[in-house]
Amino acid sequence: MKTTGAAAMMLAMPDVFLAALSGLSDDEIEKRVQELLGKMTLDEKIAQMHGISSFNDWGWAFLVPSDLVVLSYDTAENKRLGIPAFKMVSGPRGIGRGTARGTCFPVEMARGASWEPALEEKVGEVMGYETRAVGCNVQLSPCMNVLYHPSWGRAQETYGEDPYHLGRMAVGYVVGTQQYVMTSVKHFAVNNIDNSRYFVNAVVDERTLREIFLPHFKMSIDAGAATVMSSYNHLNGPLAGQNHHLITDILKNEWGFKGLVMSDWVQAVRDTVAAANAGLDLEMPTGAHFGKPLKKAVQDGLVSEQTIDQAVTRILRCKFKFLPPDYTAGFDRKKVGGKEFARIARETEQKSLVLLKNDRLALPLRRGQVKTILVLGKLADTANTGDLASSLADPPYVITPLQGLKNLGGDSVKIIYDPGRNSSRVRALAKLADAVVIVAGLTWRDESEGVALPVFFPGDRLDLNLPPDQEELIKAASEASQRVIVILEGGSAITMESWKDQVEAIVMAWYPGMEGGNAIAEALFGEVNPSGKLPIVFPKSRDQLKKFDPEAKEVAYDRYYGYRWFDQKGLEPAFPFGFGLSYTTYQYRNLKLDQKTVGQNGKIIAQVEVTNTGKMSGEEIVQLYVGAKGSRVDRCVKELKAFAKIPLQPGETRTVALELKAADLAYYNLNTNAWEVEEIEYTVMVGPSSRPEDLKLSDNFKIAGA
Ligand code: BGC
Repeated sequence: MKTTGAAAMMLAMPDVFLAALSGLSDDEIEKRVQELLGKMTLDEKIAQMHGISSFNDWGWAFLVPSDLVVLSYDTAENKRLGIPAFKMVSGPRGIGRGTARGTCFPVEMARGASWEPALEEKVGEVMGYETRAVGCNVQLSPCMNVLYHPSWGRAQETYGEDPYHLGRMAVGYVVGTQQYVMTSVKHFAVNNIDNSRYFVNAVVDERTLREIFLPHFKMSIDAGAATVMSSYNHLNGPLAGQNHHLITDILKNEWGFKGLVMSDWVQAVRDTVAAANAGLDLEMPTGAHFGKPLKKAVQDGLVSEQTIDQAVTRILRCKFKFLPPDYTAGFDRKKVGGKEFARIARETEQKSLVLLKNDRLALPLRRGQVKTILVLGKLADTANTGDLASSLADPPYVITPLQGLKNLGGDSVKIIYDPGRNSSRVRALAKLADAVVIVAGLTWRDESEGVALPVFFPGDRLDLNLPPDQEELIKAASEASQRVIVILEGGSAITMESWKDQVEAIVMAWYPGMEGGNAIAEALFGEVNPSGKLPIVFPKSRDQLKKFDPEAKEVAYDRYYGYRWFDQKGLEPAFPFGFGLSYTTYQYRNLKLDQKTVGQNGKIIAQVEVTNTGKMSGEEIVQLYVGAKGSRVDRCVKELKAFAKIPLQPGETRTVALELKAADLAYYNLNTNAWEVEEIEYTVMVGPSSRPEDLKLSDNFKIAGA
């Protein structure tokens, strides 16, 4: 397998950052915060607690020429006391519009398909470096909401459906990004619909909240995430940003979060007193509620000065920790969107590609054998990097799949391109080619963040099929060719029952970023062996899923969705969670647990041998699921609890060790309001995907005693 040299590359880091970011000890920071707080007037304190944008929405960003300004969301600096401002830009696939044409990565959902937290750390490093190089200090990402239903318009912005997998990926990103700037983990919490996001009330019992919607946030807090962004929706009544239970009881008190909580952008704060008393520290992007109204609330005795001090303490703490005075010194703006980072964007897409089907070894395309390739579909020739709302990136260039194929095909392969509007023409052309590559899928017109400008933004996506003209195109091509390869772009599941059996190969390429076309071509020609696996279930049809109502005023969530739902109902999806093929094959053998009984505070190590039984080197994502036997409470059939990605040469065998703590198997007891590890038997299942047939290697162990 060939990958770019990026894997081994470290970003050159001026020493000043390391010293600045880790220079002050926690004690010193707390001392300085208290000293500064003692010098501040009430007005000065309140001025720290809100943004200073003059507009309430980032829709205006479209009006600003990208190369000219850095479009950030700022808070006020305090010149008298030398307190710097926050300067925030959105991610998660690039540093946004108006920020000097930064690197555009594949979307988070694509990166989730890499199952490689270490790679996500490198992505984070680039995002952090670029954010800082353009003079900003908070990166408004990662998004880490559970994908509860593939219709969510912002599916592309999160890593997948499983809390453990989401948490591992987000931790990688947080650790990488925070080498340079603060992250903001978002959207806290239970943000799963976009059209109704400003009014929907998510109803979730405490156990489901703790086990499904929060564990990944907790993992990112434990990894040191500096800030948390509230979500727009209501949660069990109050708005998430005005939710005392969520922000103060759980996040701050129970988890010991020391950073700050900011609001989401539009209508996420509606009641000054409720938000301040719930523990919201910072209103963004304006001071509509935390400006003058907050001062009045303090004067009227509705918000205590102590509450203000606590919020300002958190804000100052973040500033002392992450903002050295010579903040951008040594950061090279020319590196933003440059070659060094483009290589990482390319590697990321190489590792995000999921090979869903490969009949009759249609892929890879062998030079010499395949002399003429017909490339079809308007997306083949379109820069398609994802949503144009807050996650918009504005890269220096985008390599389309067509361009990528031309770049790699060189003189030895003839590439014919047709947008594919006319079926008879498609059939005629397909007969002349040795292989047909169709690029199909979705764009920002099909799925997006649902914002205040509905003219531009479609929001949630109810129809999970491809647009009808694309299905027609695939059918026409497959009538005339025996080697039809479909490359799919999009941010979420696509249903394909009406055409999937008619084509030879399918590759899920997601929104592939600015280097996507090159990575796709490398995979098609076999210079890269696809190793990605689905971070969400691809259903056969919408009917297999729970109902999704994008206009719902209230939605009740339980723990059954995604693979948990398919397991519970015994349904067979089109492609299961964790699924992805490779150009090589792997065999799993000899699952061994190091203990058969473990105490409540103990852990077991599961070992399994994995062999590359094919002819090409590759990387395999090994997954470990656990099911509980005889539990007193309702439990999912199985849940992902560990995974590892391992490189294997042809013929090579490696023993993979996966660690499982007894505490990871706890459920949240609603009677005691505490986590409880049940002393029962558990089944460990290890294999290449969540599909039952792929998890034949299994063993049991017991938890007993301390
Ligand atoms: C989005 C956030 C984003 C913010 C600023 C909001 O509408 O929900 O995810 O960070 O805009 O761009």
